[in-house]
Amino acid sequence: MKRIYLSVPHMGTQEEVFVREAFASNQLSTVGPHLDEFEREMSSLVGLPAVALSSGTAAIHLGLRLLGVKPGDEVVTPTLTFVASANPIRYLGAEPIFVDSERASWNMDADLVAVVLKKRAARGRLPRAVVVVHLYGRSADLDPILEVCGRYEVPVLEDAAQALGATYKGKHVGSRGTVTAFSFNGNKIITTTGGGMLMAQKQELVDKARFWSTQARDPGVAYEHSELGYNYRLSNVLAAIGRGQLRVLSERVQQRRAVFTRYCEALADLPGIEPMPQPSWGQHTNWLSCFLIHPNQFGASRDNVLNALAAHNIEARPVWKPMHLQPFW
Ligand SMILES: Cc1ncc(COP(=O)(O)O)c(C=O)c1O
Repeated sequence: MKRIYLSVPHMGTQEEVFVREAFASNQLSTVGPHLDEFEREMSSLVGLPAVALSSGTAAIHLGLRLLGVKPGDEVVTPTLTFVASANPIRYLGAEPIFVDSERASWNMDADLVAVVLKKRAARGRLPRAVVVVHLYGRSADLDPILEVCGRYEVPVLEDAAQALGATYKGKHVGSRGTVTAFSFNGNKIITTTGGGMLMAQKQELVDKARFWSTQARDPGVAYEHSELGYNYRLSNVLAAIGRGQLRVLSERVQQRRAVFTRYCEALADLPGIEPMPQPSWGQHTNWLSCFLIHPNQFGASRDNVLNALAAHNIEARPVWKPMHLQPFW
């Protein structure tokens, strides 16, 4: 039987047309019209200025630096996430404070964020930033998180790596944080094979990230550098792929949603298996279809299910291992 993978790239014909254009013009590196257009198209989707980067991790790294995260600072982030939400905190020498999820979306619990900020305020030192993650294509409940962060004047970075195409109260995810990161990694709903996008409320923040992403080279012909930079820019070729992929984003969202609905209908009569909830505050992409298994009622454990699927050549995985249980953290 042909293997069924969890989340594979789907390339169409438009991607190839754009990539051929990039080859024909020999604009293969980190400058070119596809990069400019990819940023413009993402900006019009989300409503914020954008800079295309080599990964979502790079976008979080630069985003946290834009928010002023420095060695010794603390940054709040959910424990239930992929490790790339947390690692950039350490790249900057800061420490994460891991916060548990709420039940409605499995995303970071605003009440627990409030507890953390209140305690830290009482000690006289607030976290430098809060990273809110939109897991598996579900928006977090942003309003209460933004409200409590606003009250303590702690800026929010939206890690929307898994949620391109999702909305919260009618607006695209990623449009509310001071800074936002998207990923176009190969397993995402659309891909550039690898890539990311940083967005920010203020153009000057995006301009600064663009500068850092190309080795922070000062203007002028001399190779002069007054600040620390990185090699984090996306290439014009990969941006060409991204432009083709963006054209089928809504189709991909509908397909992923249909897969989830099909599972829910097929499993509806079985006890002990609970689909990831669909809170009414937005459209969920269902990037991945997730279920909670209660082994006693279901009559089989999570690992039994994973093994049974593997025996049919179907890939399935546990949800992210929470950060506070990770050996590294
Ligand atoms: C929640 C989350 N944050 C960040 C990233 C990092 O993105 P990238 O793989 O493009 O570096 C990913 C995915 O890979 C992710 O799932």
